Amino acid sequence: MYLGIDLGTSGVKTVLIDDAQRVIGTGHAGLKVSTPQPGWSEQAPQDWIDATRAALADLGKPLDRVAGIGLSGQMHGAVCLDESGRVLRPAILWNDGRASEEAAQLDGQQRFRDVTGNLVFAGFTAPKLVWMQRHEPQLFESVRRVLLPKDYLRLWLTGEAISDMSDASGTAWFDPASRDWSDALLSATGMSREMMPALAEGSAVAGQLRAEIAGEFGLPAGIPVAGGAGDNAATAIGAGITGPGPGLVSLGTSGVIFAATDRFLPAPETAIHAFCHALPGQWHQMGVILSAAACLEWWAGIVGQPVADLLEELDPQPGQPARIAFWPYLTGERTPLNNPAQRAGFTGMSARSTRPQMTRAVLEGVALALAENMAALREAGGGADSLIAMGGGARSDLWLAMLAQATGVPVLRPAGSETGAGFGAARLGLMAATGAGAEAMTRPEIAARFDPDPALLPGWSEALSRLQAQRA
Ligand code: XUL
Repeated sequence: MYLGIDLGTSGVKTVLIDDAQRVIGTGHAGLKVSTPQPGWSEQAPQDWIDATRAALADLGKPLDRVAGIGLSGQMHGAVCLDESGRVLRPAILWNDGRASEEAAQLDGQQRFRDVTGNLVFAGFTAPKLVWMQRHEPQLFESVRRVLLPKDYLRLWLTGEAISDMSDASGTAWFDPASRDWSDALLSATGMSREMMPALAEGSAVAGQLRAEIAGEFGLPAGIPVAGGAGDNAATAIGAGITGPGPGLVSLGTSGVIFAATDRFLPAPETAIHAFCHALPGQWHQMGVILSAAACLEWWAGIVGQPVADLLEELDPQPGQPARIAFWPYLTGERTPLNNPAQRAGFTGMSARSTRPQMTRAVLEGVALALAENMAALREAGGGADSLIAMGGGARSDLWLAMLAQATGVPVLRPAGSETGAGFGAARLGLMAATGAGAEAMTRPEIAARFDPDPALLPGWSEALSRLQAQRA
């Protein structure tokens, strides 16, 4: 059997699979985010270890037959360690906006886009270290090593400082074409290669389980820990998305359109992310919106009704987009706007507007924002012929039908629970332990399929153009 550990922002999930890749156990432990100032977002790395301990215990299964471990996690966070490996300050997370000035300055240096193939977003790792140099110079002086969140768990599990190519791609210090750190970009931010972890492919061995940890959990000592992946790449591995074909749409707190590519296809001007995939010789493109299901939760909070009741009030057919429009920029936007200060809003309301019409506008607004991401992927030479839907929002038939209309491709809902980043991480653990390749990463059985109605497509693409014109 194989173990996946996914270090999310709201909790750690553990997933145990058997040799046939069936899920045989899951565990969970929650995590809190601290916001010491508006727009800041931090977690103490020790809390990740404590939550991993709790999520392993929550599995409630003997672990003595585990033959490999895979890690996945929230990307971009900065864990700063001193000479003796001590954590210097709480980790600054992916959704922390404090380094927006530093990000814009780095992005203004052409070499960052040229080498990384990406914009320098405020949430990426490099601007956070530049922020520390300016605002916490004494702490910065003591930094000897910078790790990404899941790789801090690896350090605890194996004693080794190693990252994988997909997660390293989100630092703004990495060259995804050559799959290596860029010395030029590191030194442009006062950093050096010696401060960064070694690199491994996601499906390769990247450390062995220390005897001390093995003993604590009844795991076999010395089993391989795979390189693992950033959470979206891991989710894609879980969904069998290992090359061009179907992509992924994730309707979680944030929203993601993900497509694997067999070439590095950067297009920073579109604000898509072009990163390495968790498999050798594969890359991926990704559009990220910061608020997806979060918009519906927000609206439910405003009107004081549970999400399920609000959805119940709606006509289940997607139909033509309504007159009321909603812009889903509650916490700013990455793709395609790259603007942390962009804000949300309703337009087109009248004295006769109703709650169901506004709920519908929220769903449509998110679907259209994701369609804009799909268009950006296509513009960059990628895209997907269908989208496998993940995340809490994927439970809504109407939302998935709207996504099919907005993107113009079929949207597919998997049948089982064998999905998500923890499952993908367990699969990477299996690959590292057995040498199995991408062909063993089958796609999930599909329970429901939502096809676009060709007659409605023009109306949806006009709605998108209208929104874009208003925004301009
Ligand atoms: C990807 C991204 C998020 C985080 C948190 O670029 O910022 O998906 O990984 O889940």
